[in-house]
Amino acid sequence: MTKQKLFINGAWVEAAAYTPLFSPYTGETIAEIPMATAAEVDRAIEAAYQARNTMAKMPAHQRAAILEKLVTLLENRKEEAAVIIAREAAKPITTARAEVQRTITTYKFAAEEAKRIHGETIPLDAAPGGEGRVAYTTREPLGVIGAITPFNFPMNLVAHKVGPAIAAGNTVVLKPAPQTPLSAFFLAELLQEAGLPDGALNIVTGSGEVGQQIVTDERVSMISFTGSAAVGKAIRNQAGLKRVVLELGSNAAVIVDKGVTIDKIINRCVTSAFSYQGQVCISLQRIYVHEEAYEEFVEKFIAAARKLKVGDPLLPETDISALIAPREVQRVLDWIDEAVQHGARVVTGGTAEGNCLLPTVILEAAPTLKVSCQEVFAPVVLINKVASVEEAIELVNDSRYGLQAGIYTENVHTAFEAAEKLQVGGVIINDTPTFRVDHMPYGGVKESGLGREGVRYAVEEMTESKLVIFHRL
Ligand code: SIN
Repeated sequence: MTKQKLFINGAWVEAAAYTPLFSPYTGETIAEIPMATAAEVDRAIEAAYQARNTMAKMPAHQRAAILEKLVTLLENRKEEAAVIIAREAAKPITTARAEVQRTITTYKFAAEEAKRIHGETIPLDAAPGGEGRVAYTTREPLGVIGAITPFNFPMNLVAHKVGPAIAAGNTVVLKPAPQTPLSAFFLAELLQEAGLPDGALNIVTGSGEVGQQIVTDERVSMISFTGSAAVGKAIRNQAGLKRVVLELGSNAAVIVDKGVTIDKIINRCVTSAFSYQGQVCISLQRIYVHEEAYEEFVEKFIAAARKLKVGDPLLPETDISALIAPREVQRVLDWIDEAVQHGARVVTGGTAEGNCLLPTVILEAAPTLKVSCQEVFAPVVLINKVASVEEAIELVNDSRYGLQAGIYTENVHTAFEAAEKLQVGGVIINDTPTFRVDHMPYGGVKESGLGREGVRYAVEEMTESKLVIFHRL
């Protein structure tokens, strides 16, 4: 069993205290994880602070070369990486492999972006008094980035913070999710081998107090957080004048218009609802189907959901495995129970086998129920009948969240109308909201967050524009 050390200033540091890390699927202890003390967190922040000038001065081609080397190292060890994710996150191995592949792509984009960070020239003579001056902007690194990452994509969502931070010449103090720290420590090993200077990446694990210390420390210039809306709001309130980027949750929805060929979309909808047990911020939670297509859609969706294989994340045939913790299983069962008490119908699933919640489909759930209006983060999906796309758009928008939404339609006018009216960060036409490639702008409105990720957009968030004006004397 691994006894993991902290990673501070390029060294593996024994911690004062440890806690066991449990497999979500078997419940057995798979590692001992360090619980960083305030003094250890302080050392990590100081190391990042001291390394910031080294990173800021490092030429772009060198930052790119480190990221390119990281890509090669990760390619060479990708099966090992996938097994780490599968074991600590209970992510089915095929999905874990896909995450590793995406992580490689994210770092490739970061290596490319490192070489094209630039400002613009400003025609100052456009304003009276600006004559005889030439102006341009540059983009400078912010310094220390505090990165706080979730359990659901333990490698790729770390990559979405560490990759752009290094590309832009920043340093990082990373607090990975307590449930999935091993993926992050694995990355540190590779980055060290890739030649990242000491102090440029530091990893501390522990309780919420570790995160709070990072958020409130004056030496940290920006917080990049992915996680729940509640924690996101607390971070925003504590961060003072730091820049804050928040990627939060959602109860993402898709609309299915009349006239759509259901056979073409059913498997994609099922995957979008249940992939990684629904523990994805853009997981498909609400489906609004036009009344003309409703019966067919429900019947085919249930049949496809029942074919999913539930079990061990390390087996290649597994589609659905354990939720991240037993208390999550109980929470979701309580929410399902509430739905049933209020007249909703569970047509498949609704029970658990060990820590695995069976793929669950609920019909006729009122919008005020927890399963409708809160983020379920589990393999639970609602299918509701609507009389029109307009009605569906209103229901999708009747949410505190707004990350991404999808609409299937054969009608281009309906598609444009949905694109205009849906209150989300991204509208996906003829697909579900559960679509992301790693260079697209990704982020939400309302309680789904603040700012954008997607490598180029994260680089922008992690740099400051500086204006330079030359005056001809
Ligand atoms: C998330 O859960 O926020 C990330 C989704 C993804 O990267 O596919």
